Amino acid sequence: MPLFRKASSDTPEVDFEHLPRHVAIIMDGNGRWAKKRGLPRTAGHAAGAETFRTIATYAKEIGLEYLTVYAFSTENWKRPEDEVAAIMKLLKKYLLEAIEQMERDRVKMAFFGDLTPLHPELRDLCRQTQEISKRYEGCQVNICLNYGGRDEITRAVRELAAECVREGRDPASITEQDISDRLFSAGVPDPDLIIRPSGEVRTSNFLLWQSAYSEYYFTDVLWPDFSKEELLRSIADFQRRSRRYGGV
Ligand code: IPE
Ligand code: IPE
Ligand code: MG
Repeated sequence: MPLFRKASSDTPEVDFEHLPRHVAIIMDGNGRWAKKRGLPRTAGHAAGAETFRTIATYAKEIGLEYLTVYAFSTENWKRPEDEVAAIMKLLKKYLLEAIEQMERDRVKMAFFGDLTPLHPELRDLCRQTQEISKRYEGCQVNICLNYGGRDEITRAVRELAAECVREGRDPASITEQDISDRLFSAGVPDPDLIIRPSGEVRTSNFLLWQSAYSEYYFTDVLWPDFSKEELLRSIADFQRRSRRYGGV
């Protein structure tokens, strides 16, 4: 991989030797993408799933260590039943294909979120994907499914509270690390860069704890139109920033 590469005429140079370790993406804008084309929202989700495939493959190719994507939030259950069903069906299709091509792709996959409300078949596919891909190293793709940042923190707090009651642990001994260790993301470094396409400028309950010092990149591009070039653009932008973590 060359040290610097120009992806296209309007893409700034990316330093491939100093990539963010962990990039997270809020895959938003599928519905609007479909609407613009006079298609049902589900067509947007199908197109978004293809984009995810492209970006996940590319992330591995350029050497990102972690890619975390927001696929379905704890709030997305509010959507019409047929839309939720269509999203779940796409996930199932994606996972079946991922399992089939695992040996070729060699991507480690994990799921963040409470999988219990999912259809048992989908839940098993998630577990199977995670289990089979455990042995792969190089790039880890985390899929946030029925994920909510508040839900994640609440669960961690509940676990710690139960420990205090059960084991007589002193609540004053609870550290930030204790909380981090009980999140779905335990063991994964915090995201360096969080990308939100679609023009919305909010977190929508994504990685609330982990994003304390993440760099955000917002773009108007709708997720199905998101490209490798757009990813490089976000990384180049990230590389121009100065991260101070409260220091000088
Ligand atoms: C993101 O796209 C996909 C999910 C939330 C599952 P949206 O479906 O939210 O697309 P917009 O925001 O309505 O365009
Ligand atoms: C965030 O997008 C969730 C996912 C992309 C999975 P939403 O479309 O659900 O967020 P809001 O409703 O615009 O905040
Ligand atoms: Mg949306």
